[in-house]
Formats: sequence, structure tokens, C-alpha cells
Amino acid sequence: MNKIALIYSFNTKKTGKIAAQIKEAFDDDSLEMLNAEEITEKLFLSYDRIIMGVATWFDGELPNYWDEFLPALEDLDLTGKRIALFGLGDQKGYPENFLDGVGIMASILEDRGAVLVGFTSAEGYEFESSRALRENRFTGLAIDYENQGSMNKQRVAAWVEQLKKEFA
Ligand SMILES: Cc1cc2nc3c(=O)[nH]c(=O)nc-3n(C[C@H](O)[C@H](O)[C@H](O)COP(=O)(O)O)c2cc1C
Repeated sequence: MNKIALIYSFNTKKTGKIAAQIKEAFDDDSLEMLNAEEITEKLFLSYDRIIMGVATWFDGELPNYWDEFLPALEDLDLTGKRIALFGLGDQKGYPENFLDGVGIMASILEDRGAVLVGFTSAEGYEFESSRALRENRFTGLAIDYENQGSMNKQRVAAWVEQLKKEFA
């Protein structure tokens, strides 16, 4: 398999923990951890398989650590890239915006020509609305540390197995 980038903010605790679990589950040296706060267009484009960590902050918005790279991202040609998103959200605290960040990022990436992989079922979650929802699936992996933290490892493990196939 070609090398894979796992891009997330190294300054986050919970997102960082999930990134570490993903790395462990992949158990493969081809997975490289990159800091979202230092990512450049050139580095991003050097990978054809990318995993991005996108929590939801500010009532339905992207975390501000993605702000700096976003204008560049919105200009890139992502044709041929397979990208998987994992997101953290709080379905009880923010039921109207659960996981919106994943949905926002999904639209940006698809507009630039990327193929998104790693969609997951929304069964087992309770919320009112989410920009990450398409029919009954999220456009990535939904992690709810606050309310369903005990399911993290199991969700990550199943997702990584799915990605191994979808990245192949
Ligand atoms: C001020 C604030 C706003 C938030 N807004 C949302 C939201 O709109 N939707 C959501 O699903 N989660 C929301 N969350 C929950 C976070 O996504 C959740 O706490 C997540 O675990 C944060 O992970 P991080 O600390 O690694 O960024 C919010 C949290 C805070 C503190």
C-alpha cells in the first residue's frame, strides 16, 4: 500500500487520542502522522491516501486550527485523492450540529475532486441534525468522547478495517 497521511492538530487532546488509536489499529509504518497546523499544499499533495481529523467546534463550525490551510485547500486539485474523515462531536450537547465539521470538510474536499471513503452508519447515535449525514450515513467516522467514549476503540478498529479495503 502507498503511504498514508493522518493529518490532525497535534495540540488537541481528544482528537489526538483518536489519531493515536487509528495509528495503532493500522499497525503499518506507511501511516504518517502530520500536524494540521503545519501542513503545506506540497506535503498534502504528496499523498494519495489521506485521513483527516476534524472535530466540530463553535456550534457547527470547523476548529480554527484548520483555518490557515483552508484557503489553500479550497484551491487544490484533489483529483485522484482518496480521503477519509474522522470527527469528534457531542451529540447530547450539540444535537442540532452534531459532527457538522465533518460535513463541512467533506463538501470542500469533494468540490476539489477528492473521493471520500470511510462513510459509517448513523445507527447508534441520537441527534437532531448533522451536516455530516447523507441518508443514514456519516461522511466519515463519528466519535463522541463525551457520551459514548467506551465505544471509541471498537469504532476505530472497525473503521480502520474498512479503510484498509477502501484505500487499497
Ligand atoms: C464551545 C464548544 C462548541 C462545540 N460545538 C459542537 C458542535 O457544534 N457540534 C458537535 O458535534 N460538537 C461540538 N462540540 C463538542 C466537541 O466537538 C467535543 O468536545 C470534542 O470531543 C472536542 O475534541 P477536541 O478537544 O479534540 O477538539 C463543542 C465543544 C465546545 C467546547
